[in-house]
Amino acid sequence: MEELLEKIRKEALYEKLPIMDDDGLSFLADFIGDQGITSLLEVGTCIGYSAITLAARNPELVITTLEIDEQRHLRALENVRKAGLEGRIRCICCDSRSWHIDDRFSAILLDGPKAHNRQLLTRYQDNLTEEGWIIVDDVYFHGFLDNPGVIRTRRLRTLVRKFSEFQKELEADPLYECTRLNIGDGLLLAKRGKRT
Ligand SMILES: C[S@@+](CC[C@H](N)C(=O)[O-])C[C@H]1O[C@@H](n2cnc3c(N)ncnc32)[C@H](O)[C@@H]1O
Repeated sequence: MEELLEKIRKEALYEKLPIMDDDGLSFLADFIGDQGITSLLEVGTCIGYSAITLAARNPELVITTLEIDEQRHLRALENVRKAGLEGRIRCICCDSRSWHIDDRFSAILLDGPKAHNRQLLTRYQDNLTEEGWIIVDDVYFHGFLDNPGVIRTRRLRTLVRKFSEFQKELEADPLYECTRLNIGDGLLLAKRGKRT
């Protein structure tokens, strides 16, 4: 498994594919075990690196992971097959902004289209079990959130603004108790309270 993961990681780095950094991923794998998280909805599969890592480190974990790009989705399917994890990782090729599922998950990892996290949270938060977790990766977004002055394009500026607004809204939302962690490129952990 380690060899396969190293191969996927090297491929992703060589092709400049955006995968989670190892510090964040390693923390998340432990966190999932510690919290007893057994079902995860991941938005943003890429080629399956995070899903395979998290499933390999947590034998009870079942993952549904969404990817809009067909080539990446197909590569993820192949990597999941090589890892022998087809029984626990379900890869779906779809636009997560319009996809629908009735299942409940004990955690949702938002690692897809950053400008659409608000829309994704609205779409999927009812799929979260009571006291489930919303996990947001890349909260410092390569340092852009703290240094918006260095951003040169309007598109990136809009994306950074929307991502920043989303994080502030989530932290202010009384439904969630949030913790921001300075690990990797930053993680935001939001625990949903009991439904009343
Ligand atoms: C940061 S990468 C995911 C990395 C992956 N979690 C990992 O660490 O191995 C984000 C992925 O989200 C995908 N994506 C972008 N917009 C999407 C959408 N609307 N629905 C589903 N996936 C989307 C991108 O194609 C990209 O592969």
